[in-house]
Amino acid sequence: MTSQTSVQQVPHFIAGVRLGGREHDVVLEPLSGAPLYEVARGTEADLRRVLDAAQVAFEELRRWPAHKRATALRRASTLLAGQAERFARTIAQEAGKPLKASRVEVARSVENLGFAADAASDLAGEGIPLDASAFGEQRLGFTVRAPRGIVAAISPFNFPLNLALHKVGPALAGGNTVILKPAPQTPLTAVMLAELLQEAGFPAGAVNVLHGGAHLGNLLVSAPEVAIVSFTGSPGVGEAIKKASGLKPVVLELGNNSANLVDEHADVASAARKLAATSFAYQGQVCIHPQRLIVHERVYDEFRAAFLGESAKLVTGDPTSEQTDVGPMVNAAAVQRMGEWIQEACDLGGRVVMGGEVQGNILPPTVLEDVPEKARVISEEVFGPVVVLMRAHNWPEAIACANRSKYGLQTGVFTNNLQNALLAVRDIESGGVIVNDPSTFRVDQMPYGGIKESGFGREGARASLEELTYVKTVVLS
Ligand code: SIN
Repeated sequence: MTSQTSVQQVPHFIAGVRLGGREHDVVLEPLSGAPLYEVARGTEADLRRVLDAAQVAFEELRRWPAHKRATALRRASTLLAGQAERFARTIAQEAGKPLKASRVEVARSVENLGFAADAASDLAGEGIPLDASAFGEQRLGFTVRAPRGIVAAISPFNFPLNLALHKVGPALAGGNTVILKPAPQTPLTAVMLAELLQEAGFPAGAVNVLHGGAHLGNLLVSAPEVAIVSFTGSPGVGEAIKKASGLKPVVLELGNNSANLVDEHADVASAARKLAATSFAYQGQVCIHPQRLIVHERVYDEFRAAFLGESAKLVTGDPTSEQTDVGPMVNAAAVQRMGEWIQEACDLGGRVVMGGEVQGNILPPTVLEDVPEKARVISEEVFGPVVVLMRAHNWPEAIACANRSKYGLQTGVFTNNLQNALLAVRDIESGGVIVNDPSTFRVDQMPYGGIKESGFGREGARASLEELTYVKTVVLS
């Protein structure tokens, strides 16, 4: 079915209307490698247009009261629920995300819009006890949260709806306007989202979508009209964006090589089941995908057998099929990189114990063992359906191994020993420690973000609003 699709034109969405371009970029469908879209390629004139549109809309939106912003976000949530299948099928096709997982992404996005609405309603400053200073008597002090202005939101291909919404929802909740530059692989979901938000009641120009490459991205983030940049993607691009953004605030959600620790005191069968179900979800193209499974040597063999058994049950194939658990990598370059990294791990002495053989653009669940830590499948973010089994002699060693990473986004910890859980919470260096669930656990209201090269700033509606609004101090005398 997927290989017979015709090439669709994907326009920008600027000032409330679809806008084509004279030049296009061709996007290939992940499964078949056949042309799927011709996407408008943004020019400097388009950038000017979109900045003007976002600025005009900001003059309106910054005056909207909180209840009006919250109502529009709730309406968007209802509208999305009504179009869930249309969005899920678009994600499945353009991102190559299995339909089951695409439906979960849409369901999360429906909730996420609700969380953004709640955050809009609750957005508040705080009182300042000015008379605690002898110089502050007879005055009233408090803070309010003010919108920053135009948010440049640069979103990744792996959650084309929900990770875009993690930027757009809170931005609107705070009274900002948005220029969304989606990943080149997944442009249509972004346009559909912008249209839906407009239908929900946001003014034309409040959410715009601009497509284009790195050069346009640089111009966007360095434009003086842009107040703040929010990016999710690779550390290399994040660093370039940070440099190009100058003195603007920047929120960066970058990579990880997520560790998941299995203690001798863990429920091993449950850990194996949960980790097999999540390690290969969306082909491992998830920033918090379990990559390094660090297992206490006393339960290593038991865990290994259970994990391989559970992983073998996963169905690979067409992402638009109801049965598929593991589909194609996003493009041929990603498949090729996987092949090179697996080969490097083997050249360094590692062994493939499951998978490893590419079939078209599909790499089936792949498990490696006895890999030295300098191999890229351990030291870098693999972003593919590959996990490495590692042994630890004891719990402190497992924690130390987890921390031997330049990243620190989220870590999973499996133990029924309270002392060991607390030790992990205290000593693990990452933005989140998840006990008795995999590193992939995320519900969308929780603060989410990294330390070290995983970035800085937090997402999750309330945490995002802290970034996307600023504190304005008011003194009345
Ligand atoms: C990510 O890949 O950073 C997002 C993971 C998620 O939202 O589940």
